Amino acid sequence: MISIGSDHAGFPLKHEIKKYLDENKIDYTDVGCFTDESFDYAISAQMACDKVVSGECDKAILICGTGIGISMAANKVKGIRAAACSDYFSAKYTRLHNDANCLCMGARVIGAGEAIELVDVFLNTEFEGGRHQRRIDQITDIQNGKKLY
Ligand code: RB5
Repeated sequence: MISIGSDHAGFPLKHEIKKYLDENKIDYTDVGCFTDESFDYAISAQMACDKVVSGECDKAILICGTGIGISMAANKVKGIRAAACSDYFSAKYTRLHNDANCLCMGARVIGAGEAIELVDVFLNTEFEGGRHQRRIDQITDIQNGKKLY
């Protein structure tokens, strides 16, 4: 199960991504927003990410204008590793190396075709583990207030 959310700027691109998810029979829950009226991205980021942290969803997909604000908000949710991506390589390697559990994109940055490619590789790439696990553990340590140095 995927949680998907956006602000008003990301709303049209979210619609295109939901079509891709429907066509590929990927279950999702849309946390909003549900119109193109002004809607603050931090709200949908928290709603979608809470579902990942609780285990209700495996990953989150978030869209705002740039992908940046919504990723900043997502990364404040404990247990979320959100990556703002606008290219295929980054969307792939943030799964392989960072075990990212939240993909953020900017509807004013990339088109629907590119965004769907990013979603596809993000959802279908497994974390490599190994040496990368240590680095993720360090990110968690920072979140928990531990000094790494
Ligand atoms: C909304 O106008 C815009 O600021 C928002 O979608 C996003 O780009 C913020 O990072």
